[in-house]
Amino acid sequence: MGTWLDSVNIRLMNETDLPAIEWDGEYKRYRRVYREIYRGSLAGRSVPWVAEISNIGIIGQVFLTEKQPHEDYADRPYMFLSSFRVKPAYRNLGLGTLLLKVCEVTAGDRKIDIIVLNCARSNQRSRSFYEKNGFVVVRNDPGKWSYIDDEGKIREETNPAWVMRKKLVSSSKS
Ligand SMILES: CC(C)(COP(=O)(O)OP(=O)(O)OC[C@H]1O[C@@H](n2cnc3c(N)ncnc32)[C@H](O)[C@@H]1OP(=O)(O)O)[C@@H](O)C(=O)NCCC(=O)NCCS
Repeated sequence: MGTWLDSVNIRLMNETDLPAIEWDGEYKRYRRVYREIYRGSLAGRSVPWVAEISNIGIIGQVFLTEKQPHEDYADRPYMFLSSFRVKPAYRNLGLGTLLLKVCEVTAGDRKIDIIVLNCARSNQRSRSFYEKNGFVVVRNDPGKWSYIDDEGKIREETNPAWVMRKKLVSSSKS
């Protein structure tokens, strides 16, 4: 028998999705950041997934970007997971878990077996969610970063985070 998740279409983000992932203005300030990820997908660096249901539109997203090794938590190229969210009305229905599985398959297809993400230290619920799905905290990060917002202004944000990592088991590497 089919489940609710069968009605969700998970596909790569395209350029016309960019307004929708601003989520009715809540994330408008990240417009250029998202466009950069979209450009990265054209260049093969990023893999931005969106989850969509018919007549409603996009209800979730997760972006992956391939990164070079990092001295603290990856001795080989890894995938960095970002902008992961499911719209509130559709949470706790398994979509987030499914999107994480899609990320693991994406990494595996690229012969990459490490996924890293930043989880806000104010967000204990998502830390538990990631731990349940096999991620472990590898570092604390002060979370300082800057970007150019939708009006062209430089913005600085501080979001103290746990850096979390998952090593995918299907690989022979450890
Ligand atoms: C984290 C998130 C993507 C999970 O998606 P989801 O579709 O709800 O995930 P699932 O249904 O597969 O799993 C639900 C689990 O996520 C947990 N969860 C984490 N953050 C949550 C939130 N803000 N609201 C509801 N559930 C949340 C639930 O407690 C649940 O765990 P449980 O099964 O032990 O009760 C989603 O809750 C979300 O968008 N949260 C807000 C944005 C966010 O925090 N993103 C992560 C940034 S680091």
